[in-house]
Amino acid sequence: MPLPKAELHLHIEGTLEPELAFELAARNDVSLPYADTEALRDAYRFTDLQSFLNLYYELMTVLRTERDFADLADAYLARAAAQGVRHAEIFFDPQAHLARGVGMDTVVDGLWRALGTSRERHGVSTRLILCFLRDESAESALATLDAARPHLDRITGVGLDSAEVGHPPAKFREVFEAAAALGLRRVAHAGEEGPPEYITEALDVLGVERIDHGLRCLEDPALVERLARERIPLTLCPLSNVRLRTVDTLADHPLPALLDAGLMCTLNSDDPAYFGGYVGDTFDAVREVLGLDGERLRELARNSFLASFLEDDEELRAR
Ligand code: HPA
Ligand code: ZN
Repeated sequence: MPLPKAELHLHIEGTLEPELAFELAARNDVSLPYADTEALRDAYRFTDLQSFLNLYYELMTVLRTERDFADLADAYLARAAAQGVRHAEIFFDPQAHLARGVGMDTVVDGLWRALGTSRERHGVSTRLILCFLRDESAESALATLDAARPHLDRITGVGLDSAEVGHPPAKFREVFEAAAALGLRRVAHAGEEGPPEYITEALDVLGVERIDHGLRCLEDPALVERLARERIPLTLCPLSNVRLRTVDTLADHPLPALLDAGLMCTLNSDDPAYFGGYVGDTFDAVREVLGLDGERLRELARNSFLASFLEDDEELRAR
């Protein structure tokens, strides 16, 4: 029995496996510049975040209809459930779809077909988090939040993702303020490739409750101390860090140092179709390669529920 856990850092578009990408391409008459799934998998050799994002945005062009989004999310939920996930807080990138003429209704209604029935069908409760693309303008983020207004009953929070360096959190102060006023929870990617200052800015300017990645906090001891004192959760993604060359190898991952510093760490898969594993695989890998013992793994699993946006005690106990 895999350890029951929550997944808090998961881009639904990053769960698009090559087989489903080809199936959707055929269904929607979209041509992909790869001969087959093997040729596509061969392209998964990334040198940094941007080299991954280029392929991530290219491949998601096969997602066109409500049914596509539902199939995508359902495939993820089934895989996650099999690896012990009992709760998933799922990111989506509406701007990447709106820009291709796929409407907010199509995206949210499609995702919700799978998420709204996930508890019964997979035993996985869900939340949806709308991410703004930080390499797009602040105005575009505001327009995206506006487009999401009819769907706010199904959206729990907002996040910030895509190319980090050169796009500091403060650029999105206004849209995060607007989101807070609408009662939305807030998270942001920070300190993945960007400097530790972006982590501080995400906390102080955007008011985020969790930091996605946050690895580079280790460059600033005062920040590490603050994160520990304030129990700010970090949603770490070790397999992503290896594939995007944020760390050289998994054996070099600073997860043990972060735990030793008293930080509230959680383990997540980020874009599992691209990075070589789902969250259960991530737990297995850190146990084998970093030698984390059972107590540490249970702490990580427990943190994932504590750091989640599940509010109700009863709901938490049921996990
Ligand atoms: N970082 C930033 N943006 C992203 C990622 C990531 O790991 N995955 C999908 N969008
Ligand atoms: Zn991410």
